[in-house]
Order: sequence, then structure tokens, then C-alpha cells
Amino acid sequence: MSDAQTNKTWGGRFTESTDAFVAAFTASVEFDRRMYRQDINGSIAHARMLARVGVLAREDCEAIVRGLEEIRTEIERGEFAWSVELEDVHMNIEARLTERIGDAGKRLHTGRSRNDQVATDIRLYLRDAIDAILAELKRVQGGLAELAAREADTIMPGFTHLQVAQPVTFGHHLLAWFEMLKRDYERLVDCRKRVNVMPLGAAALAGTGYPLDRHYTAQLLDFDAPCANSLDAVSDRDFAIEFTAAASILMTHLSRMAEELVLWSSAQFDFIDLPDRFCTGSSIMPQKKNPDVPELVRGKVGRVNGHLMALLTLMKSQPLAYNKDNQEDKEPLFDTVDTVRGCLRAFADMVPALHPKRGNMAQAARRGFATATDLADYLVRKGVPFRDAHEVVGKAVRLGVETGRDLADMTLTELQQFSPLIEFDVFELLSLEGSVAARDILGGTAPNRVREAAVLARTWVAELP
Ligand code: ARG
Repeated sequence: MSDAQTNKTWGGRFTESTDAFVAAFTASVEFDRRMYRQDINGSIAHARMLARVGVLAREDCEAIVRGLEEIRTEIERGEFAWSVELEDVHMNIEARLTERIGDAGKRLHTGRSRNDQVATDIRLYLRDAIDAILAELKRVQGGLAELAAREADTIMPGFTHLQVAQPVTFGHHLLAWFEMLKRDYERLVDCRKRVNVMPLGAAALAGTGYPLDRHYTAQLLDFDAPCANSLDAVSDRDFAIEFTAAASILMTHLSRMAEELVLWSSAQFDFIDLPDRFCTGSSIMPQKKNPDVPELVRGKVGRVNGHLMALLTLMKSQPLAYNKDNQEDKEPLFDTVDTVRGCLRAFADMVPALHPKRGNMAQAARRGFATATDLADYLVRKGVPFRDAHEVVGKAVRLGVETGRDLADMTLTELQQFSPLIEFDVFELLSLEGSVAARDILGGTAPNRVREAAVLARTWVAELP
């Protein structure tokens, strides 16, 4: 048998080779090879640090660095022969290094274990992934801020219980989405701080007797600091759980946005036109244009929530320090990253292309007595207690329901039968424009407030790194 087949990494201790099924069952290379770049960068930093503190000869360090860089090229060219027998990305790369440069390659693992190595790789990987996600999120938010500025005067019905409640502006609605995503952005930035701490130097679990300069390695890898406790460093994956939790919340927000796009693009609402490139047709019904992209985003929240549950359950009750259970952290984490990136990209492309059908939106706000609260407030200003005003307007709405008309379509005489305090000036209030303009309060839907909020949103995006 060749070295690769018997896996000589721990050959010294073993009297028989690993069972073929067990080798396949315990291997992670099929999925952890995606961290090859982080693994190589981590190894280069470790080697340079070993040379700096005098544990590794300069020539060996140079050979290691060169060898690892060549391996990176091999992998990127698709020329690297990944082997399941070598279990994971770490041992595949290390074995290849030794194959290429001989004994120097065998010195790389001095003062290191796969336990601190893998924890480092995941953190490096996740840090890069968070940065990519933040960039995509910024694109979505930039698009929302622009669209909101443009649609600050566009009136649509605001809903509670999915029933028409009060008129709002489309810009205001878009900025509600913006606020949701802003918190997601901040959550990820905050999570990144706890991701960006370096396990290397923890070795298997207890630290190492070699005089490693952990601060130097951390600096080479752009980590904020080395982890403070070796047992914690190799064993906890709370940073991955935290990221996935933040991703779940973000996906929940995207699913709500997606749901509204699905509703709005239906014939029943008909508030927006979703460009054809984000839709697909039906193989049987020629008239169909289905909002597949938002529907998929809405559906994908399920897998991310599942991954969060998987990671929480994986970590639960694990005794210190490293356990093989932790190998199961990668697939949920990677799929969360891919899913979030894909959904954000879809939204970043879709948002600027949304075409609001302003006439339909206003028409819908006119139905459903969206200005009933305005009439009640009008009576309150004339001295009627709010509860009585509520009752009066309720009666007027009933007449509207019976006669198929909005409050604004009634004559003054008709309205006055409900309250003699109603005068001609009421009609300005009962108009949609009058209603939204009246919500002129910080955080309210009045167009001038929405314009102000859109400027703040744009500035917030512009000031992001
Ligand atoms: N593939 C392993 C993982 O993902 C690497 C660490 C293995 N360490 C060990 N002691 N078996 O967790």
C-alpha cells in the first residue's frame, strides 16, 4: 500500500490501517477543501513565526513558503490530487508539501495541531465571507435608499393584518426594509469582532512548549488578537453559531421583503412590475409570469434556520476540548454563507429594477377606507373625545361599505349626518396626499420626512467602508 492509502500521519501508533469505510466516513476533504487558501495562509504565517523565534531554520521556512505557494497554484489550476485517505484539507496539503520539498515539509507542524489549525482556518474563512456578505448587503441598501428617495411621494396603502390600514408612501415602506437590513449589517460587523481572534498556538488543547510568538502570527494574519485560552480556542464554535444566528435573522428579513414582492407582483395587488429576468414562465400555462427569485429567497430561510439548529445542537454538551463532532460545523456554515450571498445578490440586482405602478398603489389606498383615522383625528381636533370620534367614523365607514364608496367620495351633507362638526375643510384631510402629509413626525410617512430619512440612509451607506 502507498503512504496515501495507509495514512502514515499517525502510522506509528497503529497496527492496522484504517477501515476503508471509516476512512470515508471520517473524511472531510470533500467539503473542507474549500478552505485551502486560508489553510495555506495560516501555514505560511505559522512557518514565518517559527523562523522568527528560531524554532525553524530560515532555509526551511523559505522552502515551506515557496512550496505552499506552488501548491496553491496547483489547486487553483485544478491540478491538485485530493485524497480522501488523507482525510482533510490540512493533511492533504501537508502531505503534498512534504512530497514536494522533503523534510522541511515535515517541520511545518511544529508547535501546531490540526485542532488549532482548523479553528484558525474556519475563522479566516468566515471573516472573508462576512466581508463579502457586508459588501453585498451594502449594495442592497444602497439600492433601497435610492429607490426610497425617488418614491418619497408615491402613495400606497399601509397594511396591518394585510388589511388596508392607512396610506403610507412607497419610499417609507422601502426605508422600513432599509432599517431592518441596517441592523443586520451592524450585527454582522459585531459578530466579525468575535470571529477575528486567533486560535493558533493553542496547539492540540493545552498550548505548546515552543516559544511561539502568537502576537506575531496574529499580526501576519490580520487577527485582532490571539485567543486567550487554549482549551476554548480549539473547542468552541460559538462564533459560527453567532454568525448563523445573524444570518437567520437577515434571511428572515429577506423572506419578508420577498413575500411582499410576491404579493405586489400578483394580479390581485399589481403594485410592481418585476422585470422578466427575475421571473420564469410556466410549462403549461402560457399566461404565467412567476416571481421565482423572490419565492426562492423566501424559501431559503428554511435551510439557514436549519443550519443554526444544527450548529447549536452540535455544540451542545460537548466536553472540553476539541471533539470530532466539530468537523460537522463546516457544511452548515458553508451553506449558510452561500445561501446568504446568493439571496443578497438577487436582491441587490432586483431592487434597482423594481418598477412601481404608482396609479395602482394609489387606487388601492383609496379603497379600504385608509383615511378613516384621519377623519377621527379631525373630530378630535374639534373637541370630540377619541373614542366617540372612532364610533362616529365607524358609522360613516359602514355607509361607505353599503354604498360602495370611500369617505372622500361622500358629500358634505352625508358626512354631516354623522357629526355636525364636519366642515368642508375635511376633504383635504380625506385625500391620500393630505393624510400622508399629516404624518409629519420623526419616523413618520410624510413625504418630506421620507426624503430626509432617505438622505440619512444614503449617507449611512456612503460612509460604509
Ligand atoms: N477535519 C478536522 C475538523 O474539521 C480537523 C481537526 C481534526 N483533529 C483531530 N484531532 N482529529 O475538525
